Amino acid sequence: MIKERIVVAYSGGLDTSVMVRWLIEKMDAEIITFTGDLGYSRELNGVKEKALRTGAVRAYVSDLKKEFVEHYVFPALKAGAMYEKAYPMATSLGRPLLAKGLVEVARKEKATMVAHGCTGKGNDQVRFEVSVSALAPDLKNLAPLREWEFKSREEEIAYAQRHGIPVSVTVNKPYSIDDNIWGTAVECGVLEDPMVEPPADAYQRTVAPESAPDEPVYVDIEFAAGIPVAVNGTAMEAVALVQALSDIGGAHGIGRIDLVENRLVGIKSREIYEAPAATILHFAHTELERLTLDKSVFHMKNQLAAEYANLVYNGLWFTPLRQALDAFVNETQRHVNGLVRLKLYKGNVIIAGRQSVHSLYNAKLATYTEEDTFDHKASEGFIKIYGLPVKTYHQVERQAAGMVTPSELMATTDQHS
Ligand code: ARG
Repeated sequence: MIKERIVVAYSGGLDTSVMVRWLIEKMDAEIITFTGDLGYSRELNGVKEKALRTGAVRAYVSDLKKEFVEHYVFPALKAGAMYEKAYPMATSLGRPLLAKGLVEVARKEKATMVAHGCTGKGNDQVRFEVSVSALAPDLKNLAPLREWEFKSREEEIAYAQRHGIPVSVTVNKPYSIDDNIWGTAVECGVLEDPMVEPPADAYQRTVAPESAPDEPVYVDIEFAAGIPVAVNGTAMEAVALVQALSDIGGAHGIGRIDLVENRLVGIKSREIYEAPAATILHFAHTELERLTLDKSVFHMKNQLAAEYANLVYNGLWFTPLRQALDAFVNETQRHVNGLVRLKLYKGNVIIAGRQSVHSLYNAKLATYTEEDTFDHKASEGFIKIYGLPVKTYHQVERQAAGMVTPSELMATTDQHS
């Protein structure tokens, strides 16, 4: 009899390793693992061998960094998407792409199920399963962590040892960490108390602002159609550019975020993020939009940025709403070309200059010198009509309150000739 096949989203860590063995036992299925590289801090060398030693029949590892940055990170950057105005969503953006990779392997292997290692109280289970069902409605989603018998890390380690699964972890891991090229997320342990300031060891890729160099560094970032294309005059491809800014930013203490956030499943959680490249690029991109976007487009785009962030955070990447918002955003980005100069200094990103061929800043209109071409007299009539409903409202209010008589009111109301 041919066994059913399950493709497992595999990180090589304790949970997903135990999961491979557990699924073999419970489901009597063939396990194939899939590991997508989104630019992690950990090495993926050996992950394939580990999967096979744990019992997988085949193990796939694919480099998704370029696809991640170009097709997930940059669209969110162009949209200005920050969840609850603070979180640039490294984890949230990675999940739909990992789900896509999982589905591709499932198709190739003719698998009928996919499994992930997310817990039952987080956002990631939603992102995985909604994305899988969008791309492959016939595939069944499995979430072993929601149902298995292990109640602690210790129990998982004991199970792993009983089954000869290589475990390199120690029982005392102070935090739960998820990272990729766009940022790091750190939670659990002492961080669960929102009144506790994160200890130094909670941070993985940034120095403390107070330990950052005493000299600021200037960084020039060039954008083409809303996408960063060069740093300090050197054209760079997407992954290298993000990596370079992550390194410079991290060295200057940029991008530490301490956030109490609203999860999709209804709980508030406290998470520490480190996103140096995301912090620098969102800041620079917005500065260029301030210069180049028409006022009403800029305002509308800011409203839609919150919608875009919500849909990414809530696992709705593969939806018509996201495609429609991308279409709007891309239309606006035709004008977002130019250069932003930033000063990085002890955790701060400071604007130092901006320029663009699409700049709508008109010095002749803005200046207070004799170069001024603005028609000052035109303001008088503009203000009269602009303020007319305000004036009318208050006049009627005063009359209704008996503060003025109707005839006094008539006298102060402007009559047209
Ligand atoms: N709260 C973030 C999100 O839902 C990050 C989750 C990553 N988890 C972690 N192990 N720190 O996108």
